[in-house]
Amino acid sequence: MQIDILTLFPEMFEGPFNAGIIKRAIERGILDISLHNIRDYTHDKHHTVDDYPYGGGAGMVLKPEPIFEAVESIKPDSGGVPVILLTPQGRLFSHQVARGLSEYSRLILICGRYEGVDERVRSYLVTDEISIGDYVLSGGELAAMVVTEAAVRLLPGVLGSEVSPLDDSHVAGLLEYPQYTRPAVYRGWSVPEILLSGNHAQIGKWRHEQAILRTLERRPELLDGAALSEEEEELVSRLKQS
Ligand code: 6GU
Repeated sequence: MQIDILTLFPEMFEGPFNAGIIKRAIERGILDISLHNIRDYTHDKHHTVDDYPYGGGAGMVLKPEPIFEAVESIKPDSGGVPVILLTPQGRLFSHQVARGLSEYSRLILICGRYEGVDERVRSYLVTDEISIGDYVLSGGELAAMVVTEAAVRLLPGVLGSEVSPLDDSHVAGLLEYPQYTRPAVYRGWSVPEILLSGNHAQIGKWRHEQAILRTLERRPELLDGAALSEEEEELVSRLKQS
């Protein structure tokens, strides 16, 4: 997968992209990330990227020309490649959105500034807009890192074969079950007996119940969207009563 990121702050990406799974994906040849400074696509002496809003008001607005020129220079052939603006006005990011993005061989991410981006960028260049949550960040950079990380870890060969994303929270529409490691007793606190039993069928059942219980306690609205079997529905109503 190739990801091109347009930003005014390419240096923000250096730490996060040089560690962990992103670094590993790049080293394995599964991922190629190119950072493009929007300022490099200006033509005036002062490398101006923003300007006052027409109609007045506070804050500055990112000018359209450098953003159009940056996208056109990195993607001379039009069509097929999602051009995604990171903005608090976008559709809400989720595991499902990450899964969708991970299926493309190429993505272009544009980091907006929160005051705004000239609307013609939205109307005539961008094909998708994503927000990572209902709060405001000063720019789309941190959001672009979040989106990149969540999509890249789903690419085949990025996580070790021993780790599967299938049990992760949100993959099955549920939060993940509780995990324990050694020691079996720590400060008098024991690991649940069932996990030491070696009975994998029973362990699987317990974990699934715990995932449902945890989801019910913390994020009950997720259960409305989860596809539950009849047995699971019964468990939920039983747990709701107790
Ligand atoms: Cl994508 N950008 C900004 N500036 N703020 C956000 C966001 C994006 N997602 C949540 N807040």
